[in-house]
Amino acid sequence: MHTTVTLKAMKENNEKIAMMTAYDAPGAAVVETGGIDLILVGDSAGMVIHGYDSTVPVTLEDMLLHTRAVRRGAKDTFVVTDIPFLLAHMDIAESMRAAYRVMQEGGAHAIKLEGASQEVMQLTERLTAGGVPVMGHLGLTPQHANVLGGFKVQAKEEEAARQLLKDAEALEAAGAFAIVLECIPAQLAEQVTKHVSVPVIGIGAGAHTDGQVLVFHDAVGFGTGHVPKFVKTYANIYETVAEAVETYVTDVKSGAFPEKKHTFQMNEDVAGRLYK
Ligand code: KIV
Ligand code: NA
Repeated sequence: MHTTVTLKAMKENNEKIAMMTAYDAPGAAVVETGGIDLILVGDSAGMVIHGYDSTVPVTLEDMLLHTRAVRRGAKDTFVVTDIPFLLAHMDIAESMRAAYRVMQEGGAHAIKLEGASQEVMQLTERLTAGGVPVMGHLGLTPQHANVLGGFKVQAKEEEAARQLLKDAEALEAAGAFAIVLECIPAQLAEQVTKHVSVPVIGIGAGAHTDGQVLVFHDAVGFGTGHVPKFVKTYANIYETVAEAVETYVTDVKSGAFPEKKHTFQMNEDVAGRLYK
């Protein structure tokens, strides 16, 4: 299993880091079997699992439930869990407690915080000091979608790009062990990656980051919602499942299922006198 140290070594050795989300035990198991370096229990669960149109409604309890299931399904993989909407911006004690619960009750190995606010910087420092590895997340930060005006490319202009470079530096200084960059120009992501010493993991941030992350349901084609331009879809699981369900329904209606091999028997004599 990776640690924050082995992940940093991967950056130093120019070995790419492959991260994917998971939310439940079979999803975590299949991702682990596929050789993923680390799993993100993302609050994207709100969208791909729970059917919300943003990550805002996701609760700490949701994240704990998903994290526990993922840990049971993937026992040998480093697991990072998102701190959900606004919890990093409550009183410091409440924010600390959210991370505490994700680590202790959820069993995560690290947490992820969105943005570069003073609150996030302070929390990153205090959590790191207390033994909680913190992954940062800059660029498109979906918990801020209502402030950002939706889900769109960030930091295209010079001022915003300079600010993002500063934010990445500040996160590193605060102790973050890795940084996710979401939906920003490739040139900017490349510069951040060269500039900071911690692994930079991109999603919609081009090919020059230290690693990539994708949302499981997007990557395997098991979604019902919009799939962003930056996603590569490696399978079409929704279609496969839809065909299976249709065939099952047809089989039930026609009597083709169940067959003898799916059926239990008892002694015929006993069966014959039951209603007598
Ligand atoms: O919640 C999530 O899946 C994420 C990734 C897209 C980085 O935060
Ligand atoms: Na997230």
